[in-house]
Amino acid sequence: MALRRYIEETWRRVSLRHGFVEVDGPTFEYLDLYKVKSGDEIVSQLFHFESRGEDKKEFALRPEFTPTLARMIAAKANSLPRPIKWFSIPRCYRSERQQKGRLREFIQWNVDIVGDASINADVEIIALCVDALREFGLTTEDVRVEWNNREMLVKALTEKVTTAERIPAAFRILDKIGKLRPEDREKLYIDEACSEKERMVFEGLHSIVQKGLDVIGTEQAAAAEDFILEFNNYFLEMAKPTAERLKNAGLGKYSRAQMMIVRGLAYYTGLVFEVFDKSGASRAIAGGGRYDKLIEMFGGPSLPAVGFGMGDVVLENILREKGKLPVNLVSAPDVFVVSVLDDPAPAYVTLSELRTSQWNPEHTKISQTGLSAVSSYKTTKNIGKLLQEASASGAKLALILAPAEYDRGIVKLKNLATREEKEIPKDQILAAVRAALQRGP
Ligand code: HAM
Repeated sequence: MALRRYIEETWRRVSLRHGFVEVDGPTFEYLDLYKVKSGDEIVSQLFHFESRGEDKKEFALRPEFTPTLARMIAAKANSLPRPIKWFSIPRCYRSERQQKGRLREFIQWNVDIVGDASINADVEIIALCVDALREFGLTTEDVRVEWNNREMLVKALTEKVTTAERIPAAFRILDKIGKLRPEDREKLYIDEACSEKERMVFEGLHSIVQKGLDVIGTEQAAAAEDFILEFNNYFLEMAKPTAERLKNAGLGKYSRAQMMIVRGLAYYTGLVFEVFDKSGASRAIAGGGRYDKLIEMFGGPSLPAVGFGMGDVVLENILREKGKLPVNLVSAPDVFVVSVLDDPAPAYVTLSELRTSQWNPEHTKISQTGLSAVSSYKTTKNIGKLLQEASASGAKLALILAPAEYDRGIVKLKNLATREEKEIPKDQILAAVRAALQRGP
């Protein structure tokens, strides 16, 4: 739970500082919501069920949040200030084969901007995604955003390679071939009735990407065949304005245009992107893009939208493999109360006072959060042993209640890191502890 909280709190903190508000929706929806526009792959992965009784409605556990978001916005669009900037951290369910990076139940951070069709929103979404990756300690050494644009890809393919009717097949092929062995790619080309030219282009693009060539630098790609090179350059020319904008936003090293990124979900209309571990081994950490028609499709006004989802499973694997998980995920107490008085009452009272939050009736919320204060359950009166326990707990401070000083109205406050000790009047414990922790009133 500490690890999950760490991931969720990081997502939440980053979302809030970019000005997004948190929302949630129901865990299950009508099955039709996903059938409409998520794409065949997701529909084949649905956990679905029927309600009892007469009407026998069909429902599905949510495999993703975007259809719910589109439905919610379609229903309320006119009463929401625009652009609508929402984030959510839903649990999602997909009936996939369980493997590394893929589980049947996972948590997915969603961030979406609705109501802005400009490239600014595209860049803002990628910048936020990168900000979160950085917040987890991932650098340009570790991860990269690979992006594409479906509109550009359609233009490039229909002008240079194939007909408009072949685009759905081309997308299916491009989405899959990166994961297939040569013989399985050949089988796919046959199943999808590819022409010789289509086959040559798909293979060429595949080899450029597999060799890890930076498709922006055409020099490196010189090994590829002329047509592929020309096609690649043509595409890169179109991609330039977005690449420039990303560079200007400081995201040049974190991102690159990549023609094979199309994404499996059917609703994307423009930008599409995925975040990968640069060592290449695992599945995408995050994926998203622009979906300008989905809200209209759910009966709302015509509202452009862009966003992404990041799952906890792949992220956790990568953070663990790269040694980026915090060493201490479980938070330590602020103060450990060590009492060797005969009477247990002063220690209990002190603990209670330290822990109590201050309620502000005017603002109807807490104005000062209570401290995390603990004490020993041992019966020993050996201060040395108790201080050892205090240090082991990770507490920053020990508050020592010992008979001789206590009778003079004094307690000792010890900084467990520096070993510094000072005497404080017992009626000033709260103020002294808060001051030592640098927690103001
Ligand atoms: P997606 O690519 O299907 O996109 O999922 C996004 C991320 O969720 C993946 O990159 C992965 O980290 C995580 N994920 C997906 N399936 C699983 C699984 N079975 N186990 C663990 N993690 C998983 C979407 O869902 C879009 N709705 C994202 C989006 C939001 N597009 C626009 N706004």
